[in-house]
Amino acid sequence: MSLSQIARSIKASPTLALNEKAAILREKGDPVIHLGGGEPKSRAPMDALLAAVNMINSGEVRYAPADGTPDLKKAIIRYTEEYYHRKVKPENVIASGGAKQSIMVAMQAILNPQEEIIFPAPYWVSYPDMAKLCGAIPVPVLPEDGTFYPRLKDIEQRVGSYTRAIIINSPNNPSGAMYPEEFIAEIVEFCEKKDIYLIMDDIYHRLVFDGKKPISAFDYTKKSVEESKLIIVNGVSKQYAMTGFRIGWAVGNKKVIEAMSNIQGHQTSGPSVLLQKAAVGALNGIQSSVESLRVTLENNRNVLIGLLRSFNGVKVTPPDGTFYCFADFSAYEKDSQKLSNFLIDKVMVLTVPGKEFGLDGYLRISYCGAIKEIIDGIERMKWALDPNAPNELYIGDRKLVRDWS
Ligand SMILES: Cc1ncc(COP(=O)(O)O)c(C=O)c1O
Repeated sequence: MSLSQIARSIKASPTLALNEKAAILREKGDPVIHLGGGEPKSRAPMDALLAAVNMINSGEVRYAPADGTPDLKKAIIRYTEEYYHRKVKPENVIASGGAKQSIMVAMQAILNPQEEIIFPAPYWVSYPDMAKLCGAIPVPVLPEDGTFYPRLKDIEQRVGSYTRAIIINSPNNPSGAMYPEEFIAEIVEFCEKKDIYLIMDDIYHRLVFDGKKPISAFDYTKKSVEESKLIIVNGVSKQYAMTGFRIGWAVGNKKVIEAMSNIQGHQTSGPSVLLQKAAVGALNGIQSSVESLRVTLENNRNVLIGLLRSFNGVKVTPPDGTFYCFADFSAYEKDSQKLSNFLIDKVMVLTVPGKEFGLDGYLRISYCGAIKEIIDGIERMKWALDPNAPNELYIGDRKLVRDWS
């Protein structure tokens, strides 16, 4: 069967594939621990649920405008004022089927085939394939100092005449690193000087620890929204534990938002009105669930870091936010895919290989699940990797016996 060049250049999302793998193993009755997940396990806010239920009860669930309903745009405008200190207009806002779609249509609106989009590594798994869907070229940049904190000079070296955009995700999936304000200020100024787009993927911006506060890239530009090439992306998935609702958004100058809306209008139309209503409920409702999720995640992070530090060969950088930790397991195995498969096969623990995020030798371990799962999962991993561990491990009444050295 002949497929297009683009179709042949795209891989399945590795994280979605892992979710399927976990589901299949669980169905078989295997006691799987999923430390590869990308979604909080808390309930969606009551205000979100009630808003959607009220709409269902009305029986009037119709088409929505391609760029979002007026009431969701209004809620996003208020959110932008609160967290980004900018007054924007409805024409500066698009609501999409998740932040993922906002990023995708933003790339489609600004990238020509063969043009380049730069992002620091480690990076979110979807960026390279999204760029390829536009026929464009993804350019990951590894910080040369070996940390998770990019420096402008690393990025600067990769910018050339084909560079159209930079995408920054902070706090970062997979490292949990929150880039310092100075770096955000520098990158905003740099993109303005070069006249290139800067997409800020802020999907984790409120899930930060140790007293840190969300950063607004708009604070570092003197340009008006209309003059600026800054595109801010955010959404309800992570902060409100509403991943399945699929609502995200972007804020930018009205020309780019209009182009994104035209593209989205032909792709999917607007996201479902029902789910937009739920997002309005979350954004305008009681906010305590966000703080309670943040506190839980900070606690989970502390427990996980303590456990990982008790491994001899693992190097960890404590995450500043998100619900991921990107730990260096290369002392055990340099091929992260091999190590991840080994952990699934031997102890039924799912982690995501660092290779998928542009850095081999690492594993991404999520701490968005129950604390007991985190503790048990790490204990199993330690047993599997420590050659001096006892020969047997009990999981409930199931006995695992070491058949490797
Ligand atoms: C860095 C990053 N950006 C965007 C998204 C997409 O979020 P959404 O569920 O809103 O599409 C994710 C989801 O995992 C993510 O990790």
